[in-house]
Amino acid sequence: MAVFKIAVIPGDGIGPEVTASTCEVLQKVASKSGNEFVFTEVSAGGIAIDTYGEPLPAESLRIAKESDAVLLGAVGGPKWDNLPGKSRPEAALLGLRKELALYANLRLAILFPELKSASPLRPDLVENGVDILIVRELTGGIYFGKRGLEKSDECLPDGTPKGMEAFDVETYSEAEIERILRVGFTSAMQRRKQLTVVDKANILETSRLWRKVTEKIAPEYPEVSVEFMYVDNASMQLLRRPGSMDVIVTSNMFGDILSDEAGMITGSIGMLPSASLGTPGTPGMYEPVHGSAPDIAGKGIANPLATILSAAMMLRYSLGLPEEGEKIEKAVRSVLSQGFRTTDIASSSDTHVLGTKEMTEKVIEAYEKL
Ligand code: IPM
Ligand code: MG
Repeated sequence: MAVFKIAVIPGDGIGPEVTASTCEVLQKVASKSGNEFVFTEVSAGGIAIDTYGEPLPAESLRIAKESDAVLLGAVGGPKWDNLPGKSRPEAALLGLRKELALYANLRLAILFPELKSASPLRPDLVENGVDILIVRELTGGIYFGKRGLEKSDECLPDGTPKGMEAFDVETYSEAEIERILRVGFTSAMQRRKQLTVVDKANILETSRLWRKVTEKIAPEYPEVSVEFMYVDNASMQLLRRPGSMDVIVTSNMFGDILSDEAGMITGSIGMLPSASLGTPGTPGMYEPVHGSAPDIAGKGIANPLATILSAAMMLRYSLGLPEEGEKIEKAVRSVLSQGFRTTDIASSSDTHVLGTKEMTEKVIEAYEKL
């Protein structure tokens, strides 16, 4: 019997609904497995801007740092869209990633067999299923590089004054690249042993360093087959042959873009979980890949499954309870195979369309039976 401290950041939009559901599922896991989870609710995102005047109050960060793991719903919404960069809800997310040193972001894009018809791709392109793990570098690159906005004194070749000029710098060190590549290689070892390193090495110096470091460490993982792919080609191959991709490892920015694309291919972004990890022994952060969905917030129809599946990753990676995590995943699959759907994943022929609460109850019921 162990006691785990979980910082819960409901955030904005549908965030509070999906985290509440997930905490209910986790309570059930606690009582069945004989462990105790102590949840502390933490304010961050738009709600923190409204309540405390800043997206990530120091107290929130302190609680997150002292926890065993962080569960996050979603942050952001149109209400805060016109605020300057540092004051936006998204700054909470970047602050948490940086302060908790969560350099490895694991995003799963799985086409659940029960939801095949939800994929927007032609059936023959996804007939063998899709199961891609995107390993995205999360605390470096252009997201955290030097940036600026200044008045330029120069002109374009035709004499037009440039006016204002902005820049965002992409920087990667060997050490940063190596540690994220190692996450890619070890993940590939646990899966189908195929690693695609996505970059833009025909243009970017940072990408060429990614390739060099890959070549340096690849011999340590002789079973993993490595392919390099330019990001533009990768965005195309994801549509052409999604079933052949296993693990993709890439930079912060490319990972941001490709994970949305991969998520869409599965047709069910409401199903996709993620984990953000730092060095072992430090708290990881777990959140659904989908955003705050302000259009459906408060209606009780949000799909809680991505957050519930993120909790499964939390059990596996941060709490040392992999079997319980697996049971949650099984419970979710069982609910889907019984035909239960939330509106976002329902097709016109589905008759068991449930709200957030009912779906959560079904998962708990299925978990109890395992
Ligand atoms: C994501 C999001 C964030 C990102 C935003 C909200 C800052 O798009 O987690 O993918 O760009 O990393
Ligand atoms: Mg994104």
